[in-house]
Amino acid sequence: MCITMIAILLIITRNLSSCSALNPHSISRCALSSLESESYRTSIKSSVLNYKYENGRRYHAYREGEYALPNDEEEQGRMDLLHHIYSLILDGEIHIAPIKNPQRVLDIGTGTGIWAVDFAEYETDFQIVPSCIVLFFRMLNLSSASQYQSSEVIGNDLSPIQPKWVPPNCQFEIDDFESEWSYAHHFDYIHGRELAGSIHDFPRLCKQAFAHLRPGGFYEIQSFTIDIFSDDGSVGKAPYTKQAVSLVQEASAKFGKPMDNLDTWPAAMKEAGYTDVVCKIVKAPPSPWAKDPKQKEIGRFFKAHQVHSVPAYTNVLLSKVLGWSKTEIDILNMHVLRESKNLEVHQYGKLYLIYGRKPL
Ligand SMILES: C[S@@+](CC[C@H](N)C(=O)[O-])C[C@H]1O[C@@H](n2cnc3c(N)ncnc32)[C@H](O)[C@@H]1O
Repeated sequence: MCITMIAILLIITRNLSSCSALNPHSISRCALSSLESESYRTSIKSSVLNYKYENGRRYHAYREGEYALPNDEEEQGRMDLLHHIYSLILDGEIHIAPIKNPQRVLDIGTGTGIWAVDFAEYETDFQIVPSCIVLFFRMLNLSSASQYQSSEVIGNDLSPIQPKWVPPNCQFEIDDFESEWSYAHHFDYIHGRELAGSIHDFPRLCKQAFAHLRPGGFYEIQSFTIDIFSDDGSVGKAPYTKQAVSLVQEASAKFGKPMDNLDTWPAAMKEAGYTDVVCKIVKAPPSPWAKDPKQKEIGRFFKAHQVHSVPAYTNVLLSKVLGWSKTEIDILNMHVLRESKNLEVHQYGKLYLIYGRKPL
């Protein structure tokens, strides 16, 4: 009982102390929640929350029109499901760059913040022990505790869709990562996941991240390219999926934030000055056609994910950019989802895992 009380007090105190906005030009999530009575904050808050709607889906308000995917509950669920799929693919790891004891970490385009929270409280053991007992052992310095507990993790996003209750070493800001960054201190590790279709100028983003890394720090980007492949030609049995993918690619290019240019990212990182650039491409099946149990499990979750990803990707891109009606989009989506049930289609997506290091 006593330990639980101490734990709760510690968490509250540390949550309050983590409420300072580190970046004066962005809007801290804590500031948003705690300073509602101040009128200027209220007006900033309402402009951030003044969401836009299109065909029944909700979109971000800050820097309106910069990002083509929704930010509503359905989309948040999709992001969290994809976090689990990444975890399955990477065998529970949440990064592949060989980082060691990073103190300052930035997660750009953090979404629901699920990666940032996971990173901040990344456990190596004691995962099934009640948290008050873990905390007690940590206070006595008897546990290896969280691998990155000493790091300070900042996540930024256009949408304020992150949780309020987060680990004390994690905080969120509303910001546009393609604007000029004003962080006063360098980061040890900068991470961005699932940002294909979010980036207008990838070379510039690489350079900006480079400028804000300390020497020896890592920049890691992980993303699926929006495309499908098969090694046996069976993707030919999924013509609507192929059509939807090529329409989304066409629309995202017209929108100015392509979803299929990940092949160019490693070269852009080298050009920006990173060394030891590594690019791993991992195949992942979007449906459970594979025999291998791990791949089948990934496919099962991916199939559930597709129910939400297909409409999320097509809604604005096909309507506002390519001029399709909602009915036309719904019919295309229905065919794509029907095709994802055909296990004779041995389709896979490509996950790009790319990182580089700022030289010492
Ligand atoms: C597909 S989600 C990925 C979320 C998260 N990285 C993850 O892997 O769970 C892309 C996120 O990037 C955010 N985003 C897109 N463009 C952005 C920008 N210019 N600045 C900040 N966030 C941005 C979107 O709001 C969205 O939450």
